[in-house]
Amino acid sequence: MRAKRVAVVQRKGGVGKTTIAVSLAAEISRRGGDVALIDADPLRSACHWAELGGLTYPIQQITLHPGQPATRWVNAVSRVAGAYVVIDTPPVDDAVAASIALADVAIVPCLPSGLDLEATGRTLDVVRVIRARRSAPLPVILVPNRVDRRTLEGRQIVEELERFGEIIAPPIGSRYSFVRAFSSGISVAALDPGGSAAHELGVLCDLVESYLHQKPAVRRAEPSRAAVQPSHDHEAASAS
Ligand SMILES: Nc1ncnc2c1ncn2[C@@H]1O[C@H](COP(=O)(O)OP(=O)(O)OP(=O)(O)O)[C@@H](O)[C@H]1O
Ligand SMILES: [Mg+2]
Repeated sequence: MRAKRVAVVQRKGGVGKTTIAVSLAAEISRRGGDVALIDADPLRSACHWAELGGLTYPIQQITLHPGQPATRWVNAVSRVAGAYVVIDTPPVDDAVAASIALADVAIVPCLPSGLDLEATGRTLDVVRVIRARRSAPLPVILVPNRVDRRTLEGRQIVEELERFGEIIAPPIGSRYSFVRAFSSGISVAALDPGGSAAHELGVLCDLVESYLHQKPAVRRAEPSRAAVQPSHDHEAASAS
């Protein structure tokens, strides 16, 4: 059976694609899943994260260079073995389209800002094109990231995302654990087992797995308010 693929995409840079891709793969691995992460970004951020040797799963660099035909990249990623493949995608149109086309589930991180909401709309334009071309369902999970509920933007982000009509994950807080996990070359669960960041990633992983394993008869999940729960910012980044 081929690997179940999760594409982490967003047309805007710096929204947490690499952070979420590396952390989600780490959580799948921690649960015993046979997972590989594909670093498609020429900047190689996920590879840099892995360089200290503290991640428990393989990271393969299969770069998708801007302007290059995606066919060879698609073939290479399709051949990656394992039960799960998580793809960290650069914020470039062609790459977003290629990554989504291969995916069983797409994750779109979004920061609480007007610019990011606009970029999310443009990312979903690409999703629409790909959905029209394929028969398999494509659940898209919007992930509010770096959410600080002390701010108006942080409190409103879930409501703002609802207009897109996609699945919305419970927010991920703005937490230094993610920054420290990167500089230490380990997962947030290894850095702070039982901490808020690890808990939020566990919840996201539950949600992703539920869509990866849903019955094929379901064309596409309805937007799920049930997936939305308030986040508790025990460790807001600005506070630690
Ligand atoms: N929830 C979070 N809390 C605090 N910091 C975060 C969080 N998510 C991401 N960051 C930080 O934000 C910065 C950008 O994150 P990341 O590199 O994952 O974004 P990206 O979307 O992959 O960027 P690019 O488009 O450049 O590849 C990093 O310094 C990362 O540590
Ligand atoms: Mg990145």
